[in-house]
Amino acid sequence: MGKPRVRPDLFVVLGATGDLMERKLLPALYAITTSTGPAAAALRILGCSRRPWTERQFRSYAVRSLVAAKAATRSDATAWAARHLAFHSFAAEPAEQFDGLRTQIEEEERTQRTSGNRVLYLALPAEAFPPTIRAIGSAGLNRGPGWTRFVIEKPFGRDLASARSLNQLIHRSFDEKEVYRIDHYLGKETVQNLLVFRFANMLFESVWNRDRVEHVEITVAEQLGLENRAAYYDQTGALRDMVQSHLAQLLTLAAMEVPTSLEADQVRNEKVKVLRSLEPIRPQDAIFGQYTAGSVDGEHVVGYRYEPGVRRRSSTETFVAVRLGVNSWRWHGIPFYLRTGKHLATKLTRIVVRFRQPPVWFFGPMEGGEIHANTLSITLQPDEGFELGFEIKRPGHAISLESHQLHFRYSEAFGPLSDGYPTLILDVLRGDQTLFVRADEVEESWRVFGPLLRNPPRIRPYPAGSWGPKAAEELLGTEGHEWCPP
Ligand code: BG6
Repeated sequence: MGKPRVRPDLFVVLGATGDLMERKLLPALYAITTSTGPAAAALRILGCSRRPWTERQFRSYAVRSLVAAKAATRSDATAWAARHLAFHSFAAEPAEQFDGLRTQIEEEERTQRTSGNRVLYLALPAEAFPPTIRAIGSAGLNRGPGWTRFVIEKPFGRDLASARSLNQLIHRSFDEKEVYRIDHYLGKETVQNLLVFRFANMLFESVWNRDRVEHVEITVAEQLGLENRAAYYDQTGALRDMVQSHLAQLLTLAAMEVPTSLEADQVRNEKVKVLRSLEPIRPQDAIFGQYTAGSVDGEHVVGYRYEPGVRRRSSTETFVAVRLGVNSWRWHGIPFYLRTGKHLATKLTRIVVRFRQPPVWFFGPMEGGEIHANTLSITLQPDEGFELGFEIKRPGHAISLESHQLHFRYSEAFGPLSDGYPTLILDVLRGDQTLFVRADEVEESWRVFGPLLRNPPRIRPYPAGSWGPKAAEELLGTEGHEWCPP
């Protein structure tokens, strides 16, 4: 007797001809359907878009995208597209009526003998979220014969009020257990490894607190600029684009207490507690910057206000540095410094934990007059790994000290890492919400960062290719701290 055929789940992508599908989702869907077991291998993917394309045109577009992303050869991609892809065009339908889509989904479910399970993935610009969510509800797409899971990309709201109303709208059609809010940083191996690093290694956990730590730094520096997204970015800025989402997530993982298990809500309960314990940000604790002309990696870059699509008098921030206080038993009084920016000197995502100096020093002066404190530097990308800095005695008669690093590199141990999307999509199919942002996490994050947008600090210029405005250095200097050199 042959094995029973696996009934495919249906993966519906709304916005299937957009940039996200082309660069991230198609390569990820290809990877998981070709390498992760029979359930994913059977997946049926229904792309939806307003473009008046035929199924054949959609498949050719998918093949081109997979080849361009170096995810597959042309012949493999062609066979894959024929096996997995279907297309629905909204072109002939009245806007925001999904009755035609419902008919097609039901037909797919019948003709492909699917499991009846549906993923509805919103790969759309934020302004399309509310009407699309309403249309999904009115057409009844939220209830199928099996489970239905709803996936939504950032930005999730523009402030606390809009995030709340988006959550309310979603909850009219979906239970929170069915909602998967993507923050793609949570899919990165190195970000997931933060939990393992902290909670599988007693060595670090026992010193991870206010008694031993002087301060914590989280840097997400990009060399990239606007990448043809000027219209979106100029309305959004670095605080919304990066800080409220990605940096806030990194902060929660660095600062959270140990969860009772890895079950999704246990982990997310601990993360949300960190956000709840953040102190309100004082005006002097935030620096906003905007890049002016400069050079990044040897290439000339025009100033932000001269980028095509940006308003000439724009006051959108392309750099943010902020000092945060976590008012918890573990962290009270220890500053967390966050910074991010476009067109900075190098690409670097890193968490640095600076430990305290020994209370008494009897080894004589260090080179440069400074007593070095131990530093743990976890690089999340690129060149993923970590360094632990420590002092050793230089061989010889006299006691003289030198700083050295223990290091670990993912590339040496495991080879290259994939981006987070295959992990996240597989988790959606398996129903594991651990790496997705819960409604209360988003709202708490807006509660903390939103007030900065109502009352923004003045914008300080910085040359492209630098490390941001000088004031970002001074932000730490007042406490005798400094950003760890790259
Ligand atoms: C996105 C932001 O969420 O993250 C982009 O919208 C940013 O502006 C990107 O460039 C950074 O992601 P990564 O994975 O390249 O660090």
